[in-house]
Amino acid sequence: MPALLPACCPPVTLSPCYPVTLLPCYPVTLSPCHPVTLLPFHDLPISPFPNFHIFAKNIPMKLAVVGATGLVGREILKVLDEHKIYPELFIPVASPKSAGLPLEFNKTRYFIHSHEEAIAAKPQIAIFSAGGGTSKEWAPRYAAAGITVIDNSSAWRMNPEIPLVVPEINASILTREHKIIANPNCSTIQLVLVLAPLHAKYGIKRIVVSTYQSVTGTGAKAVKQLENERAGIAGEMAYPYPIDMNLFPHGGDFQDDGSTSEEVKLVNETRKILNDYSIRLTGTVVRVPVVGGHSESVNIEFSRDFEIRDIFDLLGSTPGIIVRDDIKNNIYPMPLEALGKDEVFVGRIRRDESQPNSLNLFVVADNLRKGAATNAVQIAEYLLAKGLV
Ligand SMILES: NC(=O)c1ccc[n+]([C@@H]2O[C@H](COP(=O)([O-])OP(=O)(O)OC[C@H]3O[C@@H](n4cnc5c(N)ncnc54)[C@H](OP(=O)(O)O)[C@@H]3O)[C@@H](O)[C@H]2O)c1
Repeated sequence: MPALLPACCPPVTLSPCYPVTLLPCYPVTLSPCHPVTLLPFHDLPISPFPNFHIFAKNIPMKLAVVGATGLVGREILKVLDEHKIYPELFIPVASPKSAGLPLEFNKTRYFIHSHEEAIAAKPQIAIFSAGGGTSKEWAPRYAAAGITVIDNSSAWRMNPEIPLVVPEINASILTREHKIIANPNCSTIQLVLVLAPLHAKYGIKRIVVSTYQSVTGTGAKAVKQLENERAGIAGEMAYPYPIDMNLFPHGGDFQDDGSTSEEVKLVNETRKILNDYSIRLTGTVVRVPVVGGHSESVNIEFSRDFEIRDIFDLLGSTPGIIVRDDIKNNIYPMPLEALGKDEVFVGRIRRDESQPNSLNLFVVADNLRKGAATNAVQIAEYLLAKGLV
């Protein structure tokens, strides 16, 4: 790993294969499995503006990223970089403990700002990935200042006034008046992207889904737990049990009816996005010791019958979906393959012979990408393209 640490940095031991954030000298994610060339901070160009940097290569977007130091926030910066979207005004925001710390984006050193500074800078868009409490408290204040908030938390998703958007499916519901827009839950996004074209053609009656959700879906603390367990270190627990060499049917908080909050989100958000409350859906969310990428086993009962070839053609021609289904050659979707990709992968497509008009399939996506960062950035791109901000 060609990381040159300046004298101010304490020695750091990098553990294998897991993202490690080195603050304050290197507030970037190092992934030793995928070598990166890391420039020491003192070699990076410093923003010529006292507060924010104006890029030469302007995209007419003024953007705040709230929760910029978190797993989703850092993935948003990666997506912006990969999509060559460099906002003319970029404002990273995190919790008060990170305020003033440096953060690298587009080979430039920025500094973490407070909410007050971000609102005063009047970006057009603020993408929030900082937890439900922060969204509930701060999203209305950004919105009151005329800033459009795209929120990754669950705080606003089921509010009937707030659009819940997967751009490929329902971006057309957005208007200039929507100042808070909700990004769906990661496991919902990959599911509905596959369900939407099938529902339009065959009419979905009922869905049974079991998820195999990775630890990045829980946040940085959970990644640290898995990393500690694999290194044999006793540390802070994000889950009630060890996750390495284990799994548990428990995502979120248990409800009075015995389901979990993650399972309730899957049901409610799917119906809201597909705008069809007659769809019956039941799910079991399972947390598995996979670092990144959520998988879902999905059984769907349709109103109308189908030809299996037509299902392949329909999904294969849907933007954002890649069909990975060649069982003779052991080709099927896997989280390892989905990591770092924007698309949703679907395979094991086969008729369920146990009842009429029914289909089985397996859906995999990187929960930090299409499940969070990519979807939010796509919403921002849509708002700009349509002149809605
Ligand atoms: N992980 C996923 O797959 C996924 C998918 C969809 C949606 N989400 C949602 O996205 C949000 C973030 O998830 P994550 O996995 O990125 O969590 P995370 O890694 O724990 O990061 C949390 C981020 O929020 C910041 N933050 C905390 N309190 C704040 C405050 N008062 N004001 C501003 N920033 C604050 C943290 O800043 P500090 O570094 O200063 O603490 C950090 O940048 C959550 O609401 C989560 O439900 C996550």
